[in-house]
Amino acid sequence: MARLLHIEASPRGADSCSARVAGAFLDEYRRRNPGDEVEHLPLFAYDLTAFDAEAAAQKMAHIVRLTRGETGAKPEGKWAAVTAEIDRLKSADKVVISTPMWNFSLPYRLKHYLDVVIQPGLSFYVNRKGEYVGMLRDRPVQLVIASGSAYVPGFPRPDTGTKTDFLEAYLVHVLRWIGCTDIRIIRVQPTAAAPPDEVNAMLAGKLEEARTAAASF
Ligand SMILES: Cc1cc2nc3c(=O)[nH]c(=O)nc-3n(C[C@H](O)[C@H](O)[C@H](O)COP(=O)(O)O)c2cc1C
Repeated sequence: MARLLHIEASPRGADSCSARVAGAFLDEYRRRNPGDEVEHLPLFAYDLTAFDAEAAAQKMAHIVRLTRGETGAKPEGKWAAVTAEIDRLKSADKVVISTPMWNFSLPYRLKHYLDVVIQPGLSFYVNRKGEYVGMLRDRPVQLVIASGSAYVPGFPRPDTGTKTDFLEAYLVHVLRWIGCTDIRIIRVQPTAAAPPDEVNAMLAGKLEEARTAAASF
């Protein structure tokens, strides 16, 4: 039995295009894999531990201990919540992240989640050669990214105009950083900058794309 973790980063519930497409993906996934466990983590309806002064101080103390060759910080206080969240992610054999684009990047709750789970010695480490090694290998990640406009992924270039997609590049970067190399992407776009019938046709196509993607996840 496999465990799939669905991290949902839109607060819009049934109105969310990314959640709807992820929903089609998961319905098909469940149909094909009835014995698997699917855990839902709706980031806007979940009290994720604040990464505040206490957590930041614990992280810095944790790094000092690691650089001295000691074990990391004890899982106490905020750090216990951090390590529990990393354990949840590590125990997932498969991960689905559905997210909107907000201001060319990721919603703050998803950034908060990543700030919690990306930790040295827990989700990545530095080996004896000084190389960074991700610790969440061997699991596919399906991204479902919705945006009001259509984007060609890339960093600002003279030809990208005023709209640049920092979201896909950032998510792929941090996922690789923690060791995920099998990253699959469904872009749901444009959800706003087109007549409603074109948006509906685009969405219908994306629901189908999601079902097809679920078949090989
Ligand atoms: C706070 C906020 C910021 C947004 N920023 C962008 C943006 O930078 N680029 C864009 O194309 N759409 C932007 N949008 C539109 C959303 O990306 C679009 O509505 C998308 O469908 C939202 O995903 P969801 O339907 O899953 O919530 C923004 C929407 C909100 C609420």
